[in-house]
Amino acid sequence: MASTSTTKLTEPATVDPNVDVTPETRGRPEVSGREVVFEVSDLSVYYGSFRAVRDVNIEINRHEITAFIGPSGCGKTTVLRCLNRMNDLIEIARVEGRVGYHGVDLYDREVNPVEVRRRIGMVFQKPNPFPKSIYDNVAYGPKIAGTKGNMDDVVEKALRGAGLWDEVKSRLKASGMSLSGGQQQRLCIARAIATDPEVLLMDEPCSALDPIATARIEDLMQEIKDEYTIVIVTHNMQQAARVSDRTAFFTTEVNPESDTRTGLLVEADSTDKMFSNPSDERTENYVTGRFG
Ligand SMILES: Nc1ncnc2c1ncn2[C@@H]1O[C@H](COP(=O)(O)OP(=O)(O)O)[C@@H](O)[C@H]1O
Ligand SMILES: [Mg+2]
Repeated sequence: MASTSTTKLTEPATVDPNVDVTPETRGRPEVSGREVVFEVSDLSVYYGSFRAVRDVNIEINRHEITAFIGPSGCGKTTVLRCLNRMNDLIEIARVEGRVGYHGVDLYDREVNPVEVRRRIGMVFQKPNPFPKSIYDNVAYGPKIAGTKGNMDDVVEKALRGAGLWDEVKSRLKASGMSLSGGQQQRLCIARAIATDPEVLLMDEPCSALDPIATARIEDLMQEIKDEYTIVIVTHNMQQAARVSDRTAFFTTEVNPESDTRTGLLVEADSTDKMFSNPSDERTENYVTGRFG
C-alpha cells in the first residue's frame, strides 16, 4: 500500500527535470495484459473543512474506458479533477492521499502541473471552445507546448482524431462557436488530443448534447480508446454500460455529526459485472433503479 501524504495545492510547483512523468519510461510492466495508469490510494478531498469525498482507492488501466457513476454530489467530478490536478485551480480544495501516475506521485511538489495537464487532457460538461477560429482552437495547445512540425498537419490530425475533419475542413477559419453543440464538443476533444495526451478525462461530455450528437461522441470514444486511456463521468447509466470497460460506483453517506454528506467509492469492477452481478448491495440498488 502506498504511503499517504498531504499536499497543499496552493504551493507553486516547480519544474524538476529529474521527475519524469513520461509514460514510455515510467510505465509499469504489463501485468496480465493490463497496465495501470493511475493508482489512487486513500484519496480524500476537502473543500475548506468540508470533506467532499473520502478514502478512494482505485486503479485505472491503460487503453480502457472507465466510467464514474453515482448520484449527484457523490464526488465524481472532484475525483476526476484530482487525476490531472485541476483541483489545484480551486483555492479551497485540498487533496489527501496519493494519486500515482505511472508510479509518480502526481502531487509531488516537483511535478509540473502544466505538463500533467498536457498529458492528461480534460473535456468538460458544457462544450467550451475558445472564441477563436476552429483552426486556432486546435492549434492553441500545441503552440503553447512548442509542438514541432507543420501546424496544419497537427490540426488536421487532431480534427480527424476527433471525427470532425470532414465537417469543418472547408471552413477552418470560421469561429469554433459557430458549430453545433455536438461539433463544439468534438472540437474540444480535438483541442484536448492536439497536445498528444495519454489520458482523456471527460466530465459528463454528452449531458448538453442531443441523442445523435451523444451517439457520435460515444462512437468516437470507441474509435480512439486504442490510443488513449479514458475516464468518463456520466450520470447516464446506459451510457456507462454502453461505452465503458470498467465502472466505478460512488455514493454519499451522511455525516451524522454535521448533517453533511461525504462521497465514497462503493466499488469498481468490470462494467459487465457491475451491471449484472455487483458485489455491493448499494451498487445493485443503484443500477437497478431502486435508489432514492
Ligand atoms: N468548488 C467547490 N467548492 C466547494 N464545494 C464543492 C466544490 N465542488 C464540489 N463541491 C462539493 O463537493 C461534493 C462533491 O461534488 P462533485 O464532485 O461535483 O460531485 P458530482 O460530480 O458527483 O456531482 C458536493 O457536496 C459539492 O457540493
Ligand atoms: Mg459532476
